[in-house]
Amino acid sequence: MAKPVFILNGPNLNMLGKREPEIYGAQTLDDIARLCQSKAEALGLAIDFRQTNHEGELVSQVQEARENACAIILNAAAYTHTSIAVHDALKMADIPIIEVHLSNVYKREEFRHKSYVSGVAQGVICGFGAQGYELALDAVAKLV
Ligand code: DQA
Repeated sequence: MAKPVFILNGPNLNMLGKREPEIYGAQTLDDIARLCQSKAEALGLAIDFRQTNHEGELVSQVQEARENACAIILNAAAYTHTSIAVHDALKMADIPIIEVHLSNVYKREEFRHKSYVSGVAQGVICGFGAQGYELALDAVAKLV
């Protein structure tokens, strides 16, 4: 059985739909999970879609991916800009990592321009809303 792609989502992404819809859109995280499920099926990939508000939990999920996933699609949300712990875990992962953001972080506040994920990711997709997750799955399908 092929290993799934871990699609990991960080803090506050459980609030999508209610949270600043002018920036993040009207879709909920469940909507995005469904979108990913059908895209993955079309590509012949399995996915494991998760969200956590806790930094240590995200670190544990990345460590788990090292053993149990074929790739990681990661929207680390605010931890992108702060977490050396997530960075260190990703550095050990040894599988393709695609960084995703719904919004174009480079058009926003300067504190969002720094990413602890980009330097250890294969590539970065930002600014395309939920479609970014589908684009990331396309990228994974070519990489694995
Ligand atoms: C985000 C961008 C981050 O700066 C922010 O903290 C988020 C969401 C995005 O998907 O656009 O929570 O990762």
